[in-house]
Amino acid sequence: MTDLRETLARDLTAARERTLLLTDHDEPELLAQHTPLLSPLVWDLAHIGQQEDLWLLRGGDATRPGVLPAEVEVLYDAFSQPRAVRARLPLLPPVEARAYCRDVRGRVLDRVERLGVHGDAVDDAFAVAMVVSHEQQHDETMLQALALRAGPPLLGPGAPLPPGRPGVAGTSVLVPGGEFVLGVDAADEPFSLDNERPAHVVDVPAFRIGRVPVTNAEYAAFVADGGYRDDRWWSDRGRAHRDEAGLTAPLYWGPDGTRTRFGVVEQLPPDEPVQHVTWFEAEAHAAWAGARLPTEVEWEKAAVWDPALRRRRRRPWGDTEPTAALANLDGAALRPAPVGAYPAGASAYGVEQLLGDVWEWTSSGFTAWPGFRPMLYADYSAPFFGGDYKVLRGGSWAVGSSILRPSFRNWDHPIRRQVFSGLRLAWDA
Ligand SMILES: [Fe+2]
Repeated sequence: MTDLRETLARDLTAARERTLLLTDHDEPELLAQHTPLLSPLVWDLAHIGQQEDLWLLRGGDATRPGVLPAEVEVLYDAFSQPRAVRARLPLLPPVEARAYCRDVRGRVLDRVERLGVHGDAVDDAFAVAMVVSHEQQHDETMLQALALRAGPPLLGPGAPLPPGRPGVAGTSVLVPGGEFVLGVDAADEPFSLDNERPAHVVDVPAFRIGRVPVTNAEYAAFVADGGYRDDRWWSDRGRAHRDEAGLTAPLYWGPDGTRTRFGVVEQLPPDEPVQHVTWFEAEAHAAWAGARLPTEVEWEKAAVWDPALRRRRRRPWGDTEPTAALANLDGAALRPAPVGAYPAGASAYGVEQLLGDVWEWTSSGFTAWPGFRPMLYADYSAPFFGGDYKVLRGGSWAVGSSILRPSFRNWDHPIRRQVFSGLRLAWDA
């Protein structure tokens, strides 16, 4: 129990340090909305506190009074306040938003101290982990907003990353056919979210999958080959979206092999995984390359299954926690690492860079695993099942390492590309 309390307190604190760092800007920066797809940062900030207040101080019962007056709290309800209107709301100024978050956090840490003294420690610990996950996920969307911001750089150059290895881009590995265990149970992954559960056996035909994600150089070859003008590579919906949105290259790509990243114009690093592509662009690139996107089931098998031991690993490389030598996570780098940077992070099948770097579009829609049961936050997954979404796997460089598991499922509309989204190729074997 002491370990659990310490882990939860540590994860809460790490998430908050990151939130405060990402919102340590002048008031106009925090009030600005860079796109109708994302919130002004000051909204994210108080919303993080509001969700923590709701789930950890009131057990999710919104009818119980919270720290904020009800008419202020409602401004931070994600379902009743669409993103596009959030900048026009009478939001708490940054200093008050920070004070609110601090107040809630103080009360929450007191409760974490007493975890297991009253009531069900497992359920309480899950709620805390869910709130950590929520805060870390907002930290990533804040980075998406900061990436869309025009003007001189606000963040530093980013932390250094290990070098890549030549010869890995464009290579693939075979994953032989057979059964594996898809998804996880609470017994093995107590902090897994509802859509990752339950664990169940599925049979997957043999397939090949890219050893590493598709790089900028590989994607640039598709662009240079006229890939955006050649309808052979595009699905009907993809073509329609490409034409309507005027897509000619990934988001942030400029002329002469440059890109703009957090206010800095630089040459595209050829060996870095491509990011900021829609699902439709990923689909078209894969078709041009004579490949396809993996299903999310294939992705998870390639990531976690240990065929020799016939069991799942907790991470691609084994059962240990992520380190800076195994994966590029937590956002400090502000970019993906070059391909081949993490040979020690390879899965049992030899697939690399599965966690961190870029979210990888899969061919799969977002559906419930058989036996799905909604969690405490019942509207986290269920309202989105069967919608116009595609699943992304793996987690980007901006994901908090404490919340990521290979079973983690992200989903978004196929036209979105402000997310740190890339792709990995797959083939029928
Ligand atoms: Fe949220």
